[in-house]
Amino acid sequence: MTANEEKDIRGLKAAGKVCADALKLMMASAKPGMTTAELDQIGEDFLVKEGARSAPRTMYNFPGGTCISISPVIAHGIPGDHVMQDGELINIDVSAELNGYYGDTGASMVVGASRPEYDKLLEATKAALAMALSVARAGKPLNLIGKTIQQEAAKNGFNVIFDLTGHGIGHQLHEKPSAVYNYYKPEDRRTLNEGLVLAIEPFLTTGQGHVVEKPDHWSLRTVDNTIAAQFEHTIIVTKGEPIILTM
Ligand code: CO
Ligand code: CO
Repeated sequence: MTANEEKDIRGLKAAGKVCADALKLMMASAKPGMTTAELDQIGEDFLVKEGARSAPRTMYNFPGGTCISISPVIAHGIPGDHVMQDGELINIDVSAELNGYYGDTGASMVVGASRPEYDKLLEATKAALAMALSVARAGKPLNLIGKTIQQEAAKNGFNVIFDLTGHGIGHQLHEKPSAVYNYYKPEDRRTLNEGLVLAIEPFLTTGQGHVVEKPDHWSLRTVDNTIAAQFEHTIIVTKGEPIILTM
């Protein structure tokens, strides 16, 4: 959606904050020995307490309140009886609706003690998101976002995941523009307009940059079982710095 009215901006900010706070709570709660179902419950309980509804559950009948993906799964992981291990690379993605507005945010992290190769990937993915946000301005080409993410990934020796994209958001979880690519598409002529609400979500990997669906019909893992990371924010495009709704 395009949000230029104060009422819409307020609604989006509230929805974004609920998602951001749920994600922060889940990241602080993720510990070795805990199941992903237990972690999901913490997140969904928080959403419900705040009057919000899980977007994947209500919109797509996803069997969880949030997506928790254990590497090499990088998206749409189903919370369940998996017991998280020390040193495991995971991704948590929270999207929810509050009073008719949607927010979407995600982060990758290591449960317990990290390893240098994970830290390097996490830092590079975070940097790619920060760079992408800094170039997302009204009047600029939309494909500048993908170009920037791909350049930042390459600079750090990583690939993007070509199959996974950001998206428009607002009154629905997924709106137009339907694909905000994480790589440069020169033929893409779309332009960013003032007030455009976007979820930007770079996915970086050490592998070839493609995913396959697991037999559960949800989980997407890297095709070559390489590690991957994602960070995501929902923003409103302005003439200057974007308004980050999920900070
Ligand atoms: Co998301
Ligand atoms: Co998203």
